[in-house]
Amino acid sequence: MHAPGGVDIAVRGLSHTYATPDGPVPVLEQVEAEIAAGAIVAVTGSSGAGKTTLLSVLGGLERPQRGSVVVGGLDLATLRGDGLAEYRRSTVGFVFQDFGLLGSLSAQENVELALTFAGIGMRARARRATALLDAVGLAHRRSHRPAALSGGESQRVAIARALANEPSLVLADEPTGNLDESATEAVLGMLTALPGDYGCTVVLVTHNARVAARADHRFALRDRALLPVPA
Ligand SMILES: Nc1ncnc2c1ncn2[C@@H]1O[C@H](COP(=O)(O)OP(=O)(O)OP(=O)(O)O)[C@@H](O)[C@H]1O
Ligand SMILES: [Mg+2]
Repeated sequence: MHAPGGVDIAVRGLSHTYATPDGPVPVLEQVEAEIAAGAIVAVTGSSGAGKTTLLSVLGGLERPQRGSVVVGGLDLATLRGDGLAEYRRSTVGFVFQDFGLLGSLSAQENVELALTFAGIGMRARARRATALLDAVGLAHRRSHRPAALSGGESQRVAIARALANEPSLVLADEPTGNLDESATEAVLGMLTALPGDYGCTVVLVTHNARVAARADHRFALRDRALLPVPA
């Protein structure tokens, strides 16, 4: 399932509309994108432009309503509930702006929890979570709960967690939105190293032009379309 250098992504004619009590809310229309395996891609766009919606479709949280999304040769439109859940678990790692850690668990336990869902045994879980926390520079914070971690540390735990099941695609939704400059730099350094270090393709949503500038390719969501941003 995992290509060594991440997965390539082909989005063709993707449209997405939310049904609401006030009527349909069209968010994406005929979105096209081609992302090479191992690329780091930044998606920008104003609030409400549909960035999170696009990540949700790429990550199998929403099924493509129209058009096709092919990730590493797998057409997401062909997957149903269980198939999508398996795709999320085996292929995708998510990183969110608010970290999404469980407050009652230590850093170590937060990372181990992701491995529990993959059916990995207790000892192997502990070993892998320890190695991942070492890799993000948090060996000394393993037993800390999120309330006792800084924002930058929390996001590094979240990156360790996202990597737990060896994803070939990491989706990061405004991962530096709550961080100061030095923590932003640390987190960004880790995310941009993922293709080389862990063989992931990375799609990064950001409002920050300096963060976007660090990606290999930039796209902007505007008027429901995804447009390449020239370098
Ligand atoms: N579950 C939903 N049901 C109905 N409408 C939704 C739903 N999720 C998002 N929307 C609407 O779709 C549009 C796009 O939302 P989305 O969250 O993708 O934007 P975004 O670009 O991520 O914005 P932000 O930068 O503020 O996070 C918004 O107008 C939002 O109100
Ligand atoms: Mg969003």
